[in-house]
Amino acid sequence: MADDRQDSITGSDYLARQYGTDDALNIRIETHRRYGVAHQDVFEAVCREGLERGPAPAHILDLGAGTGNWYRAIRRLLPQETRYIGIDQSSGMVSRLEEMTDADPDAEVLVADAQTLPFADESFDWVGAHYMLYHVPRIQDAVNEAWRVLKPGGLFMAATNGDHQYQEFIELRDRVLHDLGLPPVRVHASRFDLESGLEYFPVPPDIVRWPSGFVFDQSGPALRYLQSGALFGGLSRQPDIWQAALDRCREAIESEIHRRGHFSVHSETGIFIAAKPG
Ligand SMILES: C[S@@+](CC[C@H](N)C(=O)[O-])C[C@H]1O[C@@H](n2cnc3c(N)ncnc32)[C@H](O)[C@@H]1O
Repeated sequence: MADDRQDSITGSDYLARQYGTDDALNIRIETHRRYGVAHQDVFEAVCREGLERGPAPAHILDLGAGTGNWYRAIRRLLPQETRYIGIDQSSGMVSRLEEMTDADPDAEVLVADAQTLPFADESFDWVGAHYMLYHVPRIQDAVNEAWRVLKPGGLFMAATNGDHQYQEFIELRDRVLHDLGLPPVRVHASRFDLESGLEYFPVPPDIVRWPSGFVFDQSGPALRYLQSGALFGGLSRQPDIWQAALDRCREAIESEIHRRGHFSVHSETGIFIAAKPG
């Protein structure tokens, strides 16, 4: 049973469940929007950090574009004619992105793998890989590919999480699994975070970081967030145990809200920014 519950966040089963459609990602984005304590919009911050380091880009590539968070920030902050190409390994994500970018003559989206990019060398001014490199089996290949398609003087930017993220959720999970007599779940969440990601860069990147997290005043949204992600590994595939775990989580979160008025979850987020020598 233990093996069945070790769910890798790079595995094709996991990726299909998480990103086959945008449902799970939308729950997490909505939770961030309503209960998040982020100090700024990360995707706008990526644009601002890029603009501080050089001219406005003409061509941008977005790896693992997901639901188009960076695309929307680019259209809010950069000149309208900036050429945007978004790729994602999930055709479900790409279909939704196609609907979003349908009327935009300077945007294109396609299904592709970040590890083998279908673009010529030195094609883009900016390449972004936001909250996605920890899902890629061969992270170094994806970073090398990003670097290859980047023009000299261009920027490779990767937003990701800090290594101590969601500590309160992790403690809650560990306590609940222990109380239910279940073995610990190991999720490879730190394959590419603001610390472990450093080793993949061909030149030392700048790192911009800031605190984030959630403050929940009710248990429902916190539970939906827990259900949408990887924190419990493959436990959700065992309905009886999964329900028992969720019930325990709900009790603990409600008791914390009763005592303190809120259930807070602390995290950290940030951006690596690397400039390709000109
Ligand atoms: C957590 S989402 C992030 C989406 C978006 N970048 C954002 O920050 O909102 C991760 C995305 O990476 C995509 N992805 C995972 N592995 C990939 C790969 N090898 N190549 C391209 N996309 C990938 C997933 O399908 C998913 O849409």
